[in-house]
Amino acid sequence: MNCPTATTTTHSEPLTTDEFFHDVWRGLTASPKYLQSKYFYDEVGDGIFQEIMACPEYYLTNCELDVFSNKRNELANTLLSYFRDFDVVELGAGDASKSIHLLDALMKHEVDFTYYPIDISKNIITYLDKKLPAALPGIKIHGLNGDYFDMLEELKEISTRNKVVLFLGSSIGNIQLENTVDFLKELKSHLLPGDLILTGFDLKKDPSVILAAYNDAGGITRRFNMNLLQRINNTLDADFDLSQFAHRPVYNEQTGACRSYLESLKTQRVRIGEVGWIHFKEGEQIFMEISQKYTVQQTDEFALAAGFTPVRHFYDSKRWFLDSLWQCG
Ligand SMILES: C[S@@+](CC[C@H](N)C(=O)[O-])C[C@H]1O[C@@H](n2cnc3c(N)ncnc32)[C@H](O)[C@@H]1O
Repeated sequence: MNCPTATTTTHSEPLTTDEFFHDVWRGLTASPKYLQSKYFYDEVGDGIFQEIMACPEYYLTNCELDVFSNKRNELANTLLSYFRDFDVVELGAGDASKSIHLLDALMKHEVDFTYYPIDISKNIITYLDKKLPAALPGIKIHGLNGDYFDMLEELKEISTRNKVVLFLGSSIGNIQLENTVDFLKELKSHLLPGDLILTGFDLKKDPSVILAAYNDAGGITRRFNMNLLQRINNTLDADFDLSQFAHRPVYNEQTGACRSYLESLKTQRVRIGEVGWIHFKEGEQIFMEISQKYTVQQTDEFALAAGFTPVRHFYDSKRWFLDSLWQCG
């Protein structure tokens, strides 16, 4: 029997304009210039990301959806072979369009769990609070609005059960390769021995397929990147002229790094509020985001290096994408 729907939300301190300004200023005065990709996700960015997920070139969503919709029972039974009593946490849940299939399967198996989506976007948490109880009547959901590790820290006060952590969409690919093991070690420090984590990894494949996913013909990924400049204009009273920047994604087949840049089309300066000017040379780039691609062996090595045991691989039918299940040692 499912319990009546219970919806709660925990918010961290809201992102302050000061914090946003500080990160933007530090990135744009660095050499080379960069912006943090977590700032893509404001209300407009969330909507554009949903458009990206639906666009034909962005194969990642369909691949992972293939795993979550077609293997939902296999996934649920695998989790249940480890423990019956647990909560589900999702890091960077987005619209939960893949995890919803697993949540549904767990409810059909009458597992008594609470779903804790963690997302930096307040808009996403509000959306999930409405969407999930309508789609899955009886689900217990407690949204956590804030940064991954801040929210995992808060969660310790809320739930002492074992956790199944979902980290989907190859969001792990937004972390630089050299920082991945440290990120995973920090994640592990928030978990209990025996906890499970299911991480989505986009695997190396035909470079033209990969590059097209970040350079779609409809220009949605371009808009997604440009929206961060617009957010800076709106929030920090800046004067980026978006028409004077071009979207330039590049994929390096050897390293597996797909990097998105915005390139200044002329020598120009951009005012950031009353604080000062950022100078751009013609052709100078702002590094926006990395979307790392992996070999299966690399993913197993990450798990072991961070103190997890890889226990099961779930692939889509094309074997383009891997959802790897690890157990906390
Ligand atoms: C690429 S989307 C993936 C969404 C979803 N996991 C999927 O597979 O469709 C990344 C999501 O993570 C959230 N996010 C990004 N950085 C974050 C951070 N540091 N802490 C919490 N959430 C974050 C974004 O707001 C966004 O909803």
